[in-house]
Order: sequence, then structure tokens, then C-alpha cells
Amino acid sequence: MKNPFKIKKEIVSDDIFNNDLELPKSEEYPDEEVIFKVKDFEFYYDNGEKHALKNINLEIFKNKVTAFIGPSGCGKSTLLRCFNRMNDLIDGNKKEGEILYKNTQIDTLNTIQLRSKVGMVFQQPNPFTMSIYNNISYGPKCQGLRSKKELDKIVYNSLVDVGLYDEVKEQITHSGTSLSGGQQQRLCIARCIAMAPDVILMDEPTSALDPIATLKIEELIRKLKEKYTIIIVTHNMQQAARISDYTAFFMLGELAEFNKTEDFFAHPKNKKSEDYITGKFS
Ligand SMILES: Nc1ncnc2c1ncn2[C@@H]1O[C@H](COP(=O)(O)OP(=O)(O)OP(=O)(O)O)[C@@H](O)[C@H]1O
Ligand SMILES: [Mg+2]
Repeated sequence: MKNPFKIKKEIVSDDIFNNDLELPKSEEYPDEEVIFKVKDFEFYYDNGEKHALKNINLEIFKNKVTAFIGPSGCGKSTLLRCFNRMNDLIDGNKKEGEILYKNTQIDTLNTIQLRSKVGMVFQQPNPFTMSIYNNISYGPKCQGLRSKKELDKIVYNSLVDVGLYDEVKEQITHSGTSLSGGQQQRLCIARCIAMAPDVILMDEPTSALDPIATLKIEELIRKLKEKYTIIIVTHNMQQAARISDYTAFFMLGELAEFNKTEDFFAHPKNKKSEDYITGKFS
């Protein structure tokens, strides 16, 4: 019998777990390796009524920070959620075009595998209501890791990587929700890192935090790009300028400009970018 429910066949790809896989170089930025390529991509909500992303063509570079900026409702979060297929969970969504991750069309990938390699950190810190230790070991345990020694190592390394180890080492069995907002957000990043992702998607990760906690996360992002590729949505232009290597500026569902961050802010290519940077609209 033919597939009656039109469930797409998903492949289990070894390629996406291969850290030595050769990635294509960008044509426009030949020094950069392309980890995600978005081609002629369209995205609709509400069974096609709401055209949220229009003709997006974009490359995301390995071990670089890319900032998504633009006015509210321009589609930043929508595109971010497309990279690990979180939007697939929304009824009535429709997409056209392609997103390639490490050369493979993401719609052909198993979503659990894809999301283990492409992690996500949200606007509001959302630790699980369980201990700090269990927050971080949860993902690897779900993937079948049972060795206490291995789990300890992952928890330790993840906490060290996010600069939280010294702050929480005496309270590792306390609930993750007992930490401050900034610490909770770093715990969420540690939880993400514990899965050994390639890419971390961050949707306004500091907008709920005070300035000191925000600076700590920004410092962390700069450090994390040595190991991971980061895409960050932010409304804070100074933040985009401080931490990103590339900036993608969206307007009304379209990619209005993509450029190296320093060039984007110093010499915007178009009037809309300039008006946005100079605060003529928000
Ligand atoms: N689940 C949904 N169902 C229907 N429409 C949606 C849904 N989520 C977002 N939209 C619409 O799609 C468009 C893009 O939304 P999106 O959340 O991606 O914007 P954004 O750039 O992240 O905005 P903000 O800066 O306010 O977070 C908006 O017009 C929004 O109303
Ligand atoms: Mg958003």
C-alpha cells in the first residue's frame, strides 16, 4: 500500500554526525564554510494565508556568529525555527524551497537527530524542574548514555564551557529553577551543549536578563563560536555589532541585507538598513 498519511520518509544520516565532513566554501565569502544553505525558501502559516518568509537565500557559516535583526514580525524567529524544523510542529504550515544542512536537505533528516545537532535556546530561560545535574544529563540519557562516569564528564564539561561550574559546583543537586535568570540561561546553554551540537540557535537569549547577565552571555557566545556555529536573533543592535561576525537584516519577511557585521553597520548597502540602524524605525 502507498503511504496513506503522506508521512515523508526520513533518513538517518551519518553525515550530520561526521565532524570531519568537508563543507562547501561560500562563493561570496570564500574563506567561509557553509553549514546551512537556504535556497529560494518560502514559509507560510495558516494554510498559506500568512506568507511569513519570502524568497530567502542565505548561507550560515561554520564557527561564526550570525545575527538576525529587523523589526518585530519580520520573520526572524520563523526562519530560526526552520533550521531545526520546530515550525513543523505548527498546524497549517507550508514551505517551499530548500534548507540544506551539511549538504543534506533537512526535510529528509530524522528530526530527533537534526535537533540533537541543531540545538535551541529561547528568550525565557526554561530549565526543567529538576536538579542542575539532571537538566544537563537529561539529553544524553535520552540518547541512551548510561555510564555515570561519562555523564559526570559531560555535566562537568558543559558547566565549565558556560562558565557556571564554579558558581554551582556546591549545589549541583539543587533545582535548576533555583538559579538566577542569567544562570538559568547559561544552564540552558549547557543543556544544549551537552548534546554536542554543531549549531546553537538563540532567539533573543538575553532580552529577559539584566545588563550584567547579558554581558556574561555575550562573552560566552564569543567563546562558544570556537566550537559551535551560532545564530542569534536580537533586537539589540549594539549586541549584534558586539558579538556577531555576519548580520542578516530582515524586513516584512524578506532578507533585506546580508553582510559582514562591521560592513553592515559601517556602510549599510541599502537605505532601509541605514534607517533601521539609525533608529528611524523599530
Ligand atoms: N504560529 C503562528 N501562526 C500564524 N502566524 C504566525 C505564527 N508565528 C508567527 N506568525 C506571524 O509570522 C510573522 C513573522 O513572525 P515572527 O515571529 O517570525 O517574527 P519576528 O521577526 O521573530 O518578530 P519579533 O521580533 O516580534 O519576535 C508575523 O506576522 C507573525 O504574526
Ligand atoms: Mg521573534
